[in-house]
Amino acid sequence: MRVQLTETVLRDANQSLIATRLPYDKYEPILSTMDKAGYYSVECWGGATFDSCLRYLNEDPWARLRGIREHMPNTKLQMLLRGQNLLGYKHYPDDIVTKFVELSVKNGIDIIRIFDALNDFRNIKTAFEAAKKYGATASGCISYTQSPVHTVAKYVQMCKELKNMGFDTICLKDMAGTMGPQEAYDLISGVKDAVGDIPVILHTHCTTGMAYMTYMKAIEAGIDVIDTATSCFSGGTSQPATETMHFALQQMGIEDGLNETVLKEVNDFFKPIKEGYVADGTLNPKSLATDSNALVYKVPGGMLSNMIANLTDMGAMDKFDAALTEIPKVRKDLGYPPLVTPLSQMVGNQAVTNVLVGEPYKQISNEVKAYFHGEYGIAPAPVNPELAKKILGDKQPIDCRVVDAQPSTIWADTQAELGDLAQSEEDIMSYICFPKQAKDYFQHRKELQERTCSYTLEALD
Ligand code: CO
Repeated sequence: MRVQLTETVLRDANQSLIATRLPYDKYEPILSTMDKAGYYSVECWGGATFDSCLRYLNEDPWARLRGIREHMPNTKLQMLLRGQNLLGYKHYPDDIVTKFVELSVKNGIDIIRIFDALNDFRNIKTAFEAAKKYGATASGCISYTQSPVHTVAKYVQMCKELKNMGFDTICLKDMAGTMGPQEAYDLISGVKDAVGDIPVILHTHCTTGMAYMTYMKAIEAGIDVIDTATSCFSGGTSQPATETMHFALQQMGIEDGLNETVLKEVNDFFKPIKEGYVADGTLNPKSLATDSNALVYKVPGGMLSNMIANLTDMGAMDKFDAALTEIPKVRKDLGYPPLVTPLSQMVGNQAVTNVLVGEPYKQISNEVKAYFHGEYGIAPAPVNPELAKKILGDKQPIDCRVVDAQPSTIWADTQAELGDLAQSEEDIMSYICFPKQAKDYFQHRKELQERTCSYTLEALD
């Protein structure tokens, strides 16, 4: 028996514990060592890393990827992609999605894990086709959630669909860490039975304290790959520890192909980096704690802390319990969407509004209106018909993808707009995804280049 591990320190652990603030320079020295660890893959790009590079770190996300590729020639580099949303929050036209995937592969990505918040697979089809076209491993990913309609049978059906679409692997993504050990066992057993020889991957977080148990039962049920983080960046809102899972697997006589000496070197390298983030407050000790509230409320930890911050800002923390009780109602009215970006924000904000206004849906956010209009995709279960009538009147929600009707001139327009501020196709793509942040970065880069240039000229004199 064999179980392999994906190391997440460069992406999800970094994103979950220190809000994706780890700059490339800090970890470059360890990459060639990590390359010898024997991981299934290293998750190092996508998710919030792209936005964070431009917004906070003055880094070119594409240069980061090329750097990792150069120092890790032997390891599969993996990214997380939100289907038609790419790494942003709106739906992009097909030609832009395809181009993004092409550039990702060209700059070094091997595995693209593709998901849609609503598990509406129409929203991952274009990215999937592009991944195959440009030679990447396409991993079809399901946003895991719990609701009366999210049964094992439903998940098995979804996995069969992903297999039929032609995905190379299937991943179950438990972003809130609410999947229990027994659920994992039932789910993975069902999925393995249904999809046969396609590798199945489980992704979870330690948020609620169940992750290690959940992984153990998933292993018993035949999981092929699990996601873990080097131990100093594990636990809390991050993944279970790589070395700890390796140790347990060894005892059970399960091969994982990992080199223990290298794992230790990797962790020794990251330890002082982590201590630095604890010392300067970037790593909040709360992120490392176990939060069993998420089990009770079925709300991801990040969503709870967002809600607390918003209510505190408004001086309305006395409404916290009422808002918590309102969340499951709003979620039901919306047809039980998984609480992942952007749905977690939409549901959370609407619940808070309902409670603050004192009458449900007297005020409805534009996002919720767009959701009922079908712009995010198909809801997992039927939405509340009265609420739909209130929002749509006699109109019907659209039954196609929101981008279908839009022939795209985005690329040409952006190219014209940016002129020589864009130095590559990658720059144009960065701008399409995060216009303001990309432009600020380009300006910063230009100033740096001019400074370096005049310095060189002076030196020559
Ligand atoms: Co995650």
